[in-house]
Amino acid sequence: MSEPVTQVAAVEVRGVDKVFETRSGNVQALEPIDLTVAAGEFVSLIGPSGCGKSTLMRLVADLDEPTAGTVEVFGKTSRRARLDQEYGIAFQQAGLLPWRTVAGNVALPLELHGEASAARASRIAELLDMVGLADFADRYPDQLSGGMQQRVAIARALAERPRLLLMDEPFGALDEMTREKMQTELVRISAETGAAVVFVTHSIPEAVFLSDRVVVMSPRPGRIREIVAMRLGAEAERAERTEELREERVFFDMVTAVREALHGGSPIGTGARGVETR
Ligand SMILES: Nc1ncnc2c1ncn2[C@@H]1O[C@H](COP(=O)(O)OP(=O)(O)OP(=O)(O)O)[C@@H](O)[C@H]1O
Ligand SMILES: [Mg+2]
Repeated sequence: MSEPVTQVAAVEVRGVDKVFETRSGNVQALEPIDLTVAAGEFVSLIGPSGCGKSTLMRLVADLDEPTAGTVEVFGKTSRRARLDQEYGIAFQQAGLLPWRTVAGNVALPLELHGEASAARASRIAELLDMVGLADFADRYPDQLSGGMQQRVAIARALAERPRLLLMDEPFGALDEMTREKMQTELVRISAETGAAVVFVTHSIPEAVFLSDRVVVMSPRPGRIREIVAMRLGAEAERAERTEELREERVFFDMVTAVREALHGGSPIGTGARGVETR
């Protein structure tokens, strides 16, 4: 009856590579990748455009299949994990259904799971409260700003209380202020729910602010260049991360560490195309 002592990893990627067959030849998107994300851990993927971040996310989410290697999510195949709704997904486009209200969009995974309507209503209220949209339940997506739509998508991703969130540039389209606010909210939500997060971003400060570890990838074919653990001192606990952290010395030190890992010895300007330092 007792819980197992060693917790199973949220994500276990072993020897995964991916070759896309196209009319103009094969594209090796990923070299064999090994990566373990612990339960409750926040891991960001950063690297130049085309280095295979989205490809890796899609393999974990069972939206595509690896050419070789295995992906496990909480000890299950990624297929089984998807069917069991072990993870929530939020990608760059919020992907809301325009004909459904905010509440209706958040309700979708609950309906698919056949949750009773009373339980559903209270869960939706709780979720909208969590993302600060309690007053917008009856609005439609086109009546919301981009940042609000993105928060609806995050509420929807959290609906089934997944132990894992897969997020591919979820804040890419937001203005800088909204983006920082969303980062603070995501840190709070992930600390509250204890969910593991795999997060793709082009922003070094965003990766540093959010993560326990930052995975730095290099292109052609994509591989892991370095994994940088975020040592943020007393603020390292995710629940303790606040706006002030962005101005702390340790924060800048970690931004520098990730930037250096990205450039990886190659002259600055050629090593990390497409990576923002803002
Ligand atoms: N369906 C596909 N068919 C053929 N090639 C693909 C396919 N999807 C991705 N690729 C190729 O695989 C490589 C990695 O693409 P991927 O989208 O994973 O990069 P990324 O790191 O997410 O880039 P970005 O930061 O621009 O989003 C690229 O060379 C891309 O052209
Ligand atoms: Mg991508």
